[in-house]
Amino acid sequence: MNKIPVIAIDGPSGSGKGTIAAKVAEKLGFLLLDSGVLYRILGIAVLKGGVHLEDIDRLTALALQMDIEFGPSGLDSVTLDGEDVSLEIRTDIGSQMASKVGAIPAARNALFKRQLAFRKPPGLVADGRDMGAVVFPDAAVKIFLTASAEERAQRRYKQLIGKGIDATLPDLLQELRERDKRDSQREISPLKPAEDATILDTTHQSIDEVVNQVMAQCNNELGMA
Ligand code: DC
Repeated sequence: MNKIPVIAIDGPSGSGKGTIAAKVAEKLGFLLLDSGVLYRILGIAVLKGGVHLEDIDRLTALALQMDIEFGPSGLDSVTLDGEDVSLEIRTDIGSQMASKVGAIPAARNALFKRQLAFRKPPGLVADGRDMGAVVFPDAAVKIFLTASAEERAQRRYKQLIGKGIDATLPDLLQELRERDKRDSQREISPLKPAEDATILDTTHQSIDEVVNQVMAQCNNELGMA
């Protein structure tokens, strides 16, 4: 049994899981894994390498071998085989490719192993789609965040514009609905809460309110109250 505690924070795009996970990790002094970044980087690597999504052998090799380095500030900067791809992975094509590779079992299996390696003392906060249900089923705390599609598109819009990436709200809403559909209908690890997850609707909640609720659960489960 692995004694290193994991806090799993799952949910659809724009549910706030990235922001909440980063804040909770900081408060707990835990490591942070944004698993979506791994799918996004694989998507970009597929494009750069001209790999066909049907070519399972090459896709698996790429997922296992691609060299990923996170910058000193954690997830703000990330390189793929030495090249900074921080902005590229956040573009529309980066999102679409991540969602497409995420629907391929071989890609998920290869990335599964890489995700387990992030579990190091004193603990890990992992965010994604299947952290609580599949990757870390023994997580001490499992949270599933939701919010209305309109609210999530609005959040994504602000995030992208803030990073200097061009975006329009109607395009984002449509892209988000397409991704929600693909992510929840795929056969392997579909987007859905783990049976023992706490579901939090963040539509009308501030970041601090959600962080406080998650921290209350962490303190309870980790005995840090
Ligand atoms: O969390 P995100 O929006 O950065 O994730 C991008 C895509 O990656 C998402 O549409 C589906 C895929 N993904 C996944 O399949 N499983 C995860 N644990 C995380 C992301």
